[in-house]
Amino acid sequence: MAIITLVIDGKEVKGEQGDTILEICERNGIDVPTLCHFEGLTERGLCRMCLVEAKGERGFVPACTTEARNGMEVTTENEKLTILRRANLELLFSEKNHFCMFCETSGDCELQNLAYRYGMDHVRYDYSWPKLPVDATRKYFLFDQNRCILCRRCVRACDELAGHGVLGLKDRGPKTLVCADLDYPFGESTCVSCGTCLQVCPTGALVDKKSAYLGREIHFDRTKSTCTFCSVGCGIDILTREDLPVRIEGDWEAEPNRGILCVAGRFEPLYETRKRIKSPMARRGSSLVEVPWEEALNLAAEVIISVGGPSATTGIISPRATNEAAFSFKKLFDKNAHSTTPYKTTAGNGKLSDIEEGDWIFIAGTDLDEEFNVVSSFVKRAANRGAKVAVLGSTGKRVDKKAAKILAEDDVANLEKLIVKSERPVFVWGPATHPTVVKYLHSLKNKIKQIGLAAGANSRGLEKAGIKPLSESSTREALYLLIADDVASCEVEEESRKAKNLIIQSSYVNEIAERADVIFPSPPWFERSGTYTNTEGRLCQLNRACEPPEGALPDEEIVDAVWRLLR
Ligand code: SF4
Ligand code: SF4
Ligand code: SF4
Ligand code: FES
Repeated sequence: MAIITLVIDGKEVKGEQGDTILEICERNGIDVPTLCHFEGLTERGLCRMCLVEAKGERGFVPACTTEARNGMEVTTENEKLTILRRANLELLFSEKNHFCMFCETSGDCELQNLAYRYGMDHVRYDYSWPKLPVDATRKYFLFDQNRCILCRRCVRACDELAGHGVLGLKDRGPKTLVCADLDYPFGESTCVSCGTCLQVCPTGALVDKKSAYLGREIHFDRTKSTCTFCSVGCGIDILTREDLPVRIEGDWEAEPNRGILCVAGRFEPLYETRKRIKSPMARRGSSLVEVPWEEALNLAAEVIISVGGPSATTGIISPRATNEAAFSFKKLFDKNAHSTTPYKTTAGNGKLSDIEEGDWIFIAGTDLDEEFNVVSSFVKRAANRGAKVAVLGSTGKRVDKKAAKILAEDDVANLEKLIVKSERPVFVWGPATHPTVVKYLHSLKNKIKQIGLAAGANSRGLEKAGIKPLSESSTREALYLLIADDVASCEVEEESRKAKNLIIQSSYVNEIAERADVIFPSPPWFERSGTYTNTEGRLCQLNRACEPPEGALPDEEIVDAVWRLLR
């Protein structure tokens, strides 16, 4: 790429042929005001906040859509530009109802920040006083058209990042509004509530219901971590206030998700209603009572010794547990350690980013819409750029709609024909893939990119630690269940009923805990540190965002303490 040299605000800077003025400014630490621009989205040049002066150009040019040329002389701040930007802001403020003191986003709003920056202390134009409806039909966030500046970041993010293409515009001119599908209420549209639009909105038009009015960015602590709710292992920012999680955002820098999340990772964890277990408990007759840690640990060891030791006890661990907990658990129960997940999926040789390069994407054995919504975004984006999608069986009606071919779930003959004619095939397969197809995929080995989607969040980590699926378990006299903050499946419930003695390590009260002899509190996702191994085999870091209750121990330390008592 040819290097170009230009002068911006009197300073000589370099860029590459094809760069926009804004890209070069950003790389050189020159702060040009923007509103419709958002890293990773195509530029539209809509808001005109980034207008700059460039010698030789007619009038002012938008930095975000103007290609920089060798020898260009650019000015990003002067009095004329300040007057222009201020007038532009006044128009935006007068067009809708921007009365910041009533707005949830006040203090964190890009529009408001620019108004301060350019000294917009009054508005010279008549206000339009629109009375537009607020759409609160989605469970987790609302849309207030009265604060929308039509920057269309949300429209582009839904299409280009999330791949869902739900949002568009209706009407024209001053009546233009953002709408979902053919102007349905958002809650009745094809929106999957991934919240990508919410995260890119620069104003108070899209508002998260959970964190609304709980504070501003300056009041929150931000902790980078990993989502623990499926095996994709998305990078997240956990926003907390006074040791309570208030919001989850996608981490734009993190692999494999690069900012996008699904409803199960972004919103649902914040709506937990189960009762926390905060201290160890032990059975006294028909009731459970709080006991000191030492007593609970000794009781657990006694229970295990009374049935013949760890070799006579079944250990079942949820894939919500970390790698560190899994290794301790395996050390304690050895071949009697089982996962709560009943099956194993081959990891494959591919990464989710391979989907971006594929010309044919094959999907089998999973409902991507429901189980791996972030993966469905990868597939939809691939289809949007022209890749062909082939589905074996069904993979959720939204992804199926993108399919160029739908084959029977065991149609290996036609699958093979398609694979042969494709140049960069990528196969994404889940736990329910037909055994005939699994056999065929195993025979292909590294000839094509394969991404096996693991059933549980840290299933790969458990497998690496040598923990077997639940189907191979046979519960003995005693069961030690490390369920963490997971929900027990019917199979786990059934296993727990076979055991005469029950030790449980759980974050929340559940039906099994109520029957237990000993209970240890397990840290929930926002109090947990350690690592997960995601479905691609990538090591993902979990960081504690909130302080645990006094005396609480990480899962692995509880298991290690029991192990030490049994030595
Ligand atoms: S969206 Fe921003 S500018 Fe508009 S009212 Fe809210 S804080 Fe003020
Ligand atoms: S809702 Fe937000 S992101 Fe979407 S157009 Fe309006 S202001 Fe921009
Ligand atoms: S929540 Fe996700 S699917 Fe729904 S409109 Fe926003 S980006 Fe699109
Ligand atoms: S940021 Fe350039 S026109 Fe909006």
